[in-house]
Amino acid sequence: MKHPGCWKMLTVAMCMALLGCLQAQELRGHVSVILLGATGDLARKYLWQGLFQLYLDEAGKDYSFSFHGAALTSTKQGQAFVAKVLESLSCPEDVAPDRCAELKGQFQRLSAYRHLATSEDYVALSKDIEAQVQHGGLREAGRIFYFSVPPFAYADIARNINSSCRPGPGAWLRVVLEKPFGHDHLSAQQLATELGGFFREEEMYRVDHYLGKQAVAQILPFRDQNRKALDGLWSRHHVERVEIIMKETVDAEGRTSFYEEYGVIRDVLQNHLTEVLTLVAMELPHNISSSESVLQHKLRAFRALRGLQKGSAVLGQYQAYSEQVRREQQRPDSFRSLTPTFAGVLVHMDNLRWEGVPFILMSGKALDERVGYVRILFRNQAYCVLSDERWVADQSQCLPRQIVFYIGHGELGSPAVLVSRNLFRPSLPSESWKELGARPGLRLFGRPLSDFYAYRPVREQDAYSVLISRIFHGRKDSFVTTEHLLASWGFWTPLLDSLAHEVPRLYPGGAENGHLLDFEFGGAQLCFSQQQPEQLVPGPGPAPMPSGFQVLKAKYRESPLISAWPEELIAKLADDIEATAVRAVRRFGTFHLALSGGSSPVPLFQQLATRHYGFPWAHTHLWLVDERCVPLWDPESNFQHLQTHLLQHIRVPYYNIHPMPVHLHQRLCAEEDQGAQTYASEISALVANSSFDLVLLGMGADGHTASLFPQSPSGLDGEQLVVLTESPSRPFQRMSLSLPLINRARKVAVLVMGRVKREITMLVSRVGHEPKKWPISGVLPSSGQLVWYMDYEAFLG
Ligand code: BG6
Repeated sequence: MKHPGCWKMLTVAMCMALLGCLQAQELRGHVSVILLGATGDLARKYLWQGLFQLYLDEAGKDYSFSFHGAALTSTKQGQAFVAKVLESLSCPEDVAPDRCAELKGQFQRLSAYRHLATSEDYVALSKDIEAQVQHGGLREAGRIFYFSVPPFAYADIARNINSSCRPGPGAWLRVVLEKPFGHDHLSAQQLATELGGFFREEEMYRVDHYLGKQAVAQILPFRDQNRKALDGLWSRHHVERVEIIMKETVDAEGRTSFYEEYGVIRDVLQNHLTEVLTLVAMELPHNISSSESVLQHKLRAFRALRGLQKGSAVLGQYQAYSEQVRREQQRPDSFRSLTPTFAGVLVHMDNLRWEGVPFILMSGKALDERVGYVRILFRNQAYCVLSDERWVADQSQCLPRQIVFYIGHGELGSPAVLVSRNLFRPSLPSESWKELGARPGLRLFGRPLSDFYAYRPVREQDAYSVLISRIFHGRKDSFVTTEHLLASWGFWTPLLDSLAHEVPRLYPGGAENGHLLDFEFGGAQLCFSQQQPEQLVPGPGPAPMPSGFQVLKAKYRESPLISAWPEELIAKLADDIEATAVRAVRRFGTFHLALSGGSSPVPLFQQLATRHYGFPWAHTHLWLVDERCVPLWDPESNFQHLQTHLLQHIRVPYYNIHPMPVHLHQRLCAEEDQGAQTYASEISALVANSSFDLVLLGMGADGHTASLFPQSPSGLDGEQLVVLTESPSRPFQRMSLSLPLINRARKVAVLVMGRVKREITMLVSRVGHEPKKWPISGVLPSSGQLVWYMDYEAFLG
């Protein structure tokens, strides 16, 4: 052989070419997509377009495709429907019209409708796919079954697929499932177990379409590409709060039969907003292209979610909702729904990175605008001495610092990623994200757009198109695994249970909502900023009694009344006191609370002591409304009650506790000891304007309140803030705040419990201002608010 080297090279080249051909042949796989529910709304609006986009992206690459639209609709009708939808498909702007028409033609030829109902139909479908593959000289790569059908149909379809529509060995099966995935932890578990009987975990793709929204899908890549800048920023040391928001203008009309069972927390917060939350909060894996590692890290974030309490949420319902339910579901006129259409929830993470950082999740229907975003607001500890006109445009350290993943709609009208210019210049993949052009006059979160480095997608894509592509590429991390699903329900179910009988705040809808739904938070609690106390809390029992609260949305002596069964009433009062406390501390730094004695407040003290972890006790001053002239350690002493049921369970600085000085110089309530004056001076010294933030009173069966008794004139008027009085029952001597002092309070709550109060309740409802006969009738805060809290027995007998 003259040139053995040449021969060798030629042989190698030939082998390589052959191998290449073999590989190409090997790779020429066929994928069948079966769209179940092909004539439904979701399919018409998004899924067919998503499948077409998949075809546009993948045509001419390694796979061939066929698309089977399937439904229970008759063949003729179904074919007509699908033909119409296919006709309406569009290409992205960057595809030339001729090319688009050609590809659309191809897609139409590859798509067909078939009636799919019985198990024989599934067998026939599988046979047709096999024949198609064989006929085309192809290798079957996989089958995608997209379930765009109601959940009750899942089990049957799953059984049929499992028994007669699985592809042969070497080809994959992917089933795509749409929410709802259960109603609570138990039902989600049952559904998961049922599906698990038909499919393996890696075969199931549960869709949360928010994971396909471009701005959401960009959260992890953004964190990854900007690791350097974010490393030092992405934690409790720098993040002040995170807001995850989905506001809608539409209401639930037309779908109340679904909505009535789910409500906003199940419909949006449990899934969309929680998914987004975990993407922000999870630790960033080294390799974000590993689905497995992303899923593992995400699961850890789920597990770090701190349990929610009733006080972690505020609920609302747009006013027309109940009427819509009555109409759409033929409910009686008396029907009132308790389903929330608005919710704000305060979430915390129990881990070192996020300890103490509030994550606000909020969503609602019938709000003033449609917008979705995740906003990470950073702390700002800079102070700029120069006046703001001299600040370097957009760059000043004193401007707010934030990163926003703008999911869509709103003022911007498109998805975007925004980073305050005073933070850092972010890096985004230039092939898919471009800088947003100037939009003079446009303001976002109170700042001009020019304050931000702002990017939008080069090509806007619908969430379903994004997800269909990810299903095809087997990117499991864009879907909800069984473990994640159960972790999320595990987190939300206790809150949902505790709110089951909560009456949501009614709101008119749209811009008219004004500030009615604004909320504030502190500690673990969230509350509406404006109080709206005139609702009746429904009673316990299997069926809530929403009908009751409208009828009895009553006033009592011209002031708001809250009435409920005792337990709910106490819970509501405790919530209201805490909300008032949080607000007062936020505004004035302290909260001055004056508490009555007697037996009615005992359950309230217990409730405050055991359930209200967010109560600002460290800033609360506790005063006594009245006291019996007995030593403080005497079991009859009001202070002793307070001590036993509240003080020993909470951490109030001891100098914030103000017992009444009834026991001075080893005597009880001696005039000469000037105990009342001493207490009055203490109040004047510590309480601004001698105006308590909240005074809690009771009402005696004889109409007395505090220790101001009928026919005993002291304390009903005059200058004295604190007085000694006489009681008709033992111990006869008392010390009490005077009516004028009580009436200076910002808020007075009167708690009336039990059947024994029924008569006086009726009587006092009719009398005018006659404090001498009924001291309670003299309670009328001069500029504060009076609210009556009565249990049903006291109010209705
Ligand atoms: C759905 C909810 O999952 O998301 C709807 O069921 C809600 O109630 C919708 O309107 C919002 O999605 P998008 O894509 O319009 O923000």
